[in-house]
Amino acid sequence: MENAAPRPKVALVTGAASGIGRATAELFAERGYTVAALDIAESPSSGSARIHPLLVDVADRDRVGAAVDEVAATHGGIDVVVNCAASFLARGVDVTPQEWDSVLRINVQGISNVVQAAHPHLARSEGAAVVNTASISAHVAQPQRWTYNTTKSAIVGLTRCMAMDLAADGIRVNSVSPGWIWTPEVAAAAADGGRERWEPVWGRFHLLRRLGEAAEVAAAIGFLCSPDASFITGVDLPVDGGYLAMGPEGLGDSSSFAGSA
Ligand SMILES: NC(=O)c1ccc[n+]([C@@H]2O[C@H](COP(=O)([O-])OP(=O)(O)OC[C@H]3O[C@@H](n4cnc5c(N)ncnc54)[C@H](O)[C@@H]3O)[C@@H](O)[C@H]2O)c1
Repeated sequence: MENAAPRPKVALVTGAASGIGRATAELFAERGYTVAALDIAESPSSGSARIHPLLVDVADRDRVGAAVDEVAATHGGIDVVVNCAASFLARGVDVTPQEWDSVLRINVQGISNVVQAAHPHLARSEGAAVVNTASISAHVAQPQRWTYNTTKSAIVGLTRCMAMDLAADGIRVNSVSPGWIWTPEVAAAAADGGRERWEPVWGRFHLLRRLGEAAEVAAAIGFLCSPDASFITGVDLPVDGGYLAMGPEGLGDSSSFAGSA
C-alpha cells in the first residue's frame, strides 16, 4: 500500500479576525497551510476554505487549552503559532488595578496560554515556529501608555525566554515589532479626516514616510516561520519602515533642524 500524502501544515493565528492577524491567516492559507483563526470576535468571511475561525479569548487558559487540542486533533497537528491578539488599552498615571489585570492577562498571559497549550504539538512538528507580535511601543516611551507599552516590552522578554526553553524541542520563537500599520485600530484613530489627512502626519514617524500595511507585517511573520529563517530564534524584528532607526531630529527637514552634530 502506498503511503498517505503528508497532511497540510497547520498554522494557529490569534487575533485573526482583523488587521495583522487576518492578513497573516490569509498569507498562510495562500501558502497551503490549514489555518486555525482564533479571535474573540466573529471573523468576516475570508473566502478561503483553508481558514477555520474559532471563538476563543486568549486570556481564558482553559478555553485556549481546549481549542488548541481541538485544532491539533482535527487537522493532525500544529506547526506554526502566531500571536496577534491584543488589547490596545492605553493608560498612564491614572491606571487602575483592574485595567492592569486585564491588559496583562490578554497581552502577556494570553501568549503564554497559547504557546503553553501548543507546545506538545509544536514539539512533534519538524521546523516548528512561533511569532509573537510586539510593537515599536516595546522600545520607546509614548505618552500615557504605561499599560500597552509595558505589555509589549514584556512580549520581547517573553519571546527570548520561550526561545531558550523551546529550542530543545526544535521550536524557534521570535517576535515582530510593527510600526504604525494601517489597520482598523489606526483607522479609528484617524476618523476625523481619514487616511488622506493623517498618513502625511503619522507617516513622518517612519523613515519611509508612510504607514505600513498589514500584509507587510504578515510577510515578515511568514519569513520568520519559514525554512529561510531556520537559524533565527530569540530575536525581535522591527517591521517599522525605519521608525526605531530615527533620532530626535526626525527626518531632518524641519525648520528647527540645524544640521549634523
Ligand atoms: N496596527 C498597528 O499599528 C500596530 C502597531 C504595532 C503593533 N501592533 C500589534 O499587532 C497586533 C495586531 O494588531 P492590529 O492592529 O491588527 O489590531 P486589530 O484590532 O485589527 O486586531 C486585533 C484582533 O485581536 C482580537 N482580540 C482582542 N482581544 C482578544 C482576546 N482576548 N482573545 C482573542 N482575540 C482578541 C480582536 O478582536 C481583533 O480581531 C497586536 O498585537 C498589536 O498590538 C499593531
